[in-house]
Amino acid sequence: MNDPGKLYVKTFGCQMNVYDTEKIYAFLQDSYVPAASEEEADVIILNTCSIREKAEHKVYSLLGRIKPLKDRKPDLLIGVGGCVAQQEGERILKRSPVVDVVFGTHNLDELPALLEERRRDGKRICRVREDAGTVPTSDAPRVKGSMGVTSLLTIMKGCDNHCAYCVVPLVRGREVSRRTAEILDEAVFLIEQGVREITLLGQNVNSYHDPDTGAGFVSLLESMELLPGLKRLRFVTSHPKDLSPELAHAIAELPSVCEHVHLPIQAGSDRVLSAMKRGYTSRQYMEKVELLKNLIPEMEFTTDIIVGFPGEDREDFERTMDMLRVVKYQNAFSFRFSPRPGTAAAALEDPVDADEKRSWLPELQDLQNGITANKHMSMVGNKIEVLVGGFDKKERGLLEGRTRTNYIVHFPGDPELIGQLVQVKINNSRTIHLIGELVN
Ligand code: SAH
Ligand code: SF4
Ligand code: F3S
Repeated sequence: MNDPGKLYVKTFGCQMNVYDTEKIYAFLQDSYVPAASEEEADVIILNTCSIREKAEHKVYSLLGRIKPLKDRKPDLLIGVGGCVAQQEGERILKRSPVVDVVFGTHNLDELPALLEERRRDGKRICRVREDAGTVPTSDAPRVKGSMGVTSLLTIMKGCDNHCAYCVVPLVRGREVSRRTAEILDEAVFLIEQGVREITLLGQNVNSYHDPDTGAGFVSLLESMELLPGLKRLRFVTSHPKDLSPELAHAIAELPSVCEHVHLPIQAGSDRVLSAMKRGYTSRQYMEKVELLKNLIPEMEFTTDIIVGFPGEDREDFERTMDMLRVVKYQNAFSFRFSPRPGTAAAALEDPVDADEKRSWLPELQDLQNGITANKHMSMVGNKIEVLVGGFDKKERGLLEGRTRTNYIVHFPGDPELIGQLVQVKINNSRTIHLIGELVN
């Protein structure tokens, strides 16, 4: 047998892509082992994101930087997959002559054949499938031994919502839920590999339903709860319109489900929410937040926010600022609105002054940074359970873990603790993490 080649996958975008990248390694594991860097790779795959214009630009600038590698090593194959590939297809081959193979978000399984075809026939290939169908077919096995303490697990693909700004339904297709039995099998496999915390993944996990039985998300959580060896369960993303009281109670009552919900609000103004087609008002959103806070006092929320949606004015923006102050998010991922091809919002006129709008995002981020810092400071002195995930990447010798409520904690300790739940006393706070010490 030939020596296996080396594969390097560069991942952009959200956790869907992180998960798909794992699948790419799995689909190619018979012929390729992971490369440590782009330089030593025989195949480089870019798993791309098109959520904002900037994300798409990054892909083309990286392709530019890869070109010298290809000049030096003509056998090097470059593949482009993911959301930009799904939307742009052939145009990528035209725009970037270094690309050998373009594939979409629905045909990762074809990648081994496409690479082989390219080597054999010498022709550059673009193959993108339109949709995934109604029930997902069996997936690639995951690569054994590649798992850490925490893992993502996709429970559904695509999205059936029509948020006016969003490209996801165009690049990921219709919403399709996986069978509960299949999800549980994959979870058991992960736990056997040492995974202790699973994050269930979907664009709108609250609308999950088993394609055969119709059983919903709460019932999936209840089944996951019964898996021996699973210490913690998380999920992203919850769409506020579909977060039911039943789910709120399940979060409160199921011991493994963590006290943290990522609940993207996007905007605080009802006028803007309606223009975004989000399907809830700020008041309805607050009712869900309050229900969760009442049921679970330590509950933490994170969110996504878009600043400067077409037509959003200062008044509207102030309503978003209000939401930050009232909900007191642990963290907010905020973005300037970016018009995306094919979305409804791309065609909207914007009478509001662009320069004025530009100042809003840093203003919002300042406010949020203050809220996050206060929250971190208020944790100092607490003793709290941490799942040890691994080493702190910057300060050698320190361990890193997360609390159930999603705080990141660094502390000195024995590497043998990785994978275990420990009690940590919080002594200090930093911008994005807390510092503590082990207690018995
Ligand atoms: N399914 C998730 C989000 C997926 S995209 C949800 O419904 O919340 C992740 C985030 O990117 C979104 O929450 C939104 O805040 C941001 N985003 C999406 N499209 C955008 C655009 N055109 N411009 C700026 N931000 C955008
Ligand atoms: Fe995009 Fe809205 Fe679907 Fe989230 S729910 S992926 S923002 S269309
Ligand atoms: Fe980006 Fe695609 Fe995710 S557009 S945010 S990688 S679903």
